[in-house]
Amino acid sequence: MNTLASFLALALVALQQPVLAVWPAPQHYSKGSSFLYIHQNIKITYNEEFVRWDFCPLAAGRATEYSHSPSAQMTFTSGYTPRSPTSKEIVQAGVSRALDSIFRTPFAPYALRKHGNLSGFEPDVYAGQTWLDTLQITQLAADKPSTFRPRAGDVDESYNLTISADGHTKLTAVSSIGILRGLETFTQLFYQHTTGTFWYTPYAPVTIRDAPRFPHRGVLLDTSRHFFSVADIKRTIDAMSWNKLNRLHVHVTDSQSWPLDVPSMPELARMGAYNPASIYSAADLEAVQQYGQHRGVAVYLEIDMPGHIGSVAESHPELIVAYDAQPYYWYCAQPPCGAFKLSSPDVDRFVGRLFDDVLPRVAPYSAYFHTGGDELNANDSMLDEGIRSNDTRVLQPLLQKFIDRQHGRVRAAGLTPLSWEEIPLEWNVTVGADTVIQTWLGTESVRKVTAKGLQVIDSNYNFWYLDCGRGQWLAFDNGAAFQQHYPFNDWCGPTKSWALVYSHDPTAGLSPAQAKLVLGGEVAVWTESIDPQTLDAIVWPRASAAGEVLWSGRQDASGRNRSQIDALPRLLEFRERMVARGVRAAAITQQWCATADDNSGRACELRVM
Ligand SMILES: *[C@@H]1O[C@H](CO)[C@@H](O)[C@H](O)[C@H]1NC(C)=O
Ligand SMILES: *[C@@H]1O[C@H](CO)[C@@H](O)[C@H](O)[C@H]1NC(C)=O
Ligand SMILES: *[C@@H]1O[C@H](CO)[C@@H](O)[C@H](O)[C@H]1NC(C)=O
Ligand SMILES: *[C@@H]1O[C@H](CO)[C@@H](O)[C@H](O)[C@H]1NC(C)=O
Ligand SMILES: *[C@@H]1O[C@H](CO)[C@@H](O)[C@H](O)[C@H]1NC(C)=O
Ligand SMILES: *[C@@H]1O[C@H](CO)[C@@H](O)[C@H](O)[C@H]1NC(C)=O
Repeated sequence: MNTLASFLALALVALQQPVLAVWPAPQHYSKGSSFLYIHQNIKITYNEEFVRWDFCPLAAGRATEYSHSPSAQMTFTSGYTPRSPTSKEIVQAGVSRALDSIFRTPFAPYALRKHGNLSGFEPDVYAGQTWLDTLQITQLAADKPSTFRPRAGDVDESYNLTISADGHTKLTAVSSIGILRGLETFTQLFYQHTTGTFWYTPYAPVTIRDAPRFPHRGVLLDTSRHFFSVADIKRTIDAMSWNKLNRLHVHVTDSQSWPLDVPSMPELARMGAYNPASIYSAADLEAVQQYGQHRGVAVYLEIDMPGHIGSVAESHPELIVAYDAQPYYWYCAQPPCGAFKLSSPDVDRFVGRLFDDVLPRVAPYSAYFHTGGDELNANDSMLDEGIRSNDTRVLQPLLQKFIDRQHGRVRAAGLTPLSWEEIPLEWNVTVGADTVIQTWLGTESVRKVTAKGLQVIDSNYNFWYLDCGRGQWLAFDNGAAFQQHYPFNDWCGPTKSWALVYSHDPTAGLSPAQAKLVLGGEVAVWTESIDPQTLDAIVWPRASAAGEVLWSGRQDASGRNRSQIDALPRLLEFRERMVARGVRAAAITQQWCATADDNSGRACELRVM
């Protein structure tokens, strides 16, 4: 084919091609249709200092990498003392991961083209090559200690990325975390050529200005109902960072099991964990927190109380009431029940010892600690010999005192308390103005919490509970139970499809003043019937859909709701990238929809005429 004809063909394809490559969508993005190749020896500078690519010696792909110890992972980010990262170390490691993404887990978009035909998409390697010669990274301000244990709003994550048609790339950001966000965007502009030895972007020149819509963009992972290994959690953190998600909320204990080793109270995990292999050692916790810190994903813990704490009864039965009480539905939402004795001084002393051990170990990595507070059933205290009542007039003052005490301890450790919505909304407990409230019961809860002037993280179960809609995990007896529960749905179906996740706006219907109090949201991964075998496919790419709402906003720059038809091709492409990088993200539509019209989104769109 002659060069002019092939150029025209390529230009045409590029014009028809709505795929913007980047997920979540940048706030401002313009691109061209020229090709640029990137070489492994690209010159990279950070504040005018040369940065090397620490080429990771792993050979056998993601599985090998993830099944090994934390130190194997750290080869990506060699040369720093993890406890107190410097900005340079953060950026150096980010550069290594970015180049690793492009060159070591490469992605050629066969699955997104009709017949896998990339010849209209990728450049002709014999037609002359323009190389991307430099990546010049500039950080505009110094990081603060809070950059590495941020409260919402502490870190400016904005970045600008430009790639000129002649191959000069500039990335600027205010913080090192902003640089990580920009590097991630950079990686998503590149594809591997089908020759296997070239990597290119078809989008030059590129101009991107980007910043998040919400400062708190999270995933909640429940490690009590099922245990997840450190490798599973690290893999989840990696995928979160690709999605520009920045908070991993580990719901680390519950009534089902206590997997967290508390070194000064070893009996808790020894007797409360499912088995000796299902325990997070202090070193594991530190490794996970450091791993997140280096990727701009703050890991924070929830120890749910005063309900949802039955597993403590395995080692300290005197502190817990209604442990595994039957019938469970009189005392809690699911077996086994178990709550703290609300008026017991022993409980208060226990929590004091627990927090003295745990809080100093999380404070270097997170500004938050979540004390739970959901679904406390008043009936539990009927079985408490010190109370013998389910009257809220009796229980409310006890709960107020309990929350005051525990939140006081959280603050004394330099942390900000988080609490589930029931504490202020159902129990009318007054919480400090600094407290962040996590809502799950819906839009009305967000409205009520913000009306009290409190900050909110939204996890509306109608949209962002990723466990929902997969059927009951309870077994029903033949007869009445069978009849009553047929066809055995779970409580929160239907399944929250990516499109439903994507449709949720945590600030919908709020006044501007109330909307400002919404720090963001979290998708929730409650793990009654989720374990490491299915984790990736449950979470991804549906958490990506929430990730785009939280980073880019439900509305685009013109104030219109983002469209599924615009999102689908990018999400299909990004899902392929996640799979290439070792995360077993689920399929979200037939592959035909991606290939039929060269992943334009048009092939499977439905419009009402
Ligand atoms: C692949 O696409 C190119 C350009 O769009 C076209 O010219 C070529 O015939 C296609 N090849 C096949 C095998 O379909
Ligand atoms: C990005 O560019 C805009 C417009 O030129 C500028 O206002 C902003 O400060 C830049 N931000 C960064 C992080 O470079
Ligand atoms: C409390 O227990 C009584 C039975 O003693 C039961 O009827 C009631 O539904 C229970 N309340 C809750 C909220 O589960
Ligand atoms: C308290 O217990 C009584 C008697 O068992 C029951 O009827 C009532 O529903 C319970 N109240 C709550 C809030 O569970
Ligand atoms: C909390 O306040 C609401 C509204 O005043 C009231 O209906 C509810 O009973 C109160 N709950 C408790 C536990 O006191
Ligand atoms: C925009 O999305 C919201 C939900 O996030 C929905 O309530 C609203 O109807 C949508 N608006 C339009 C014009 O489609």
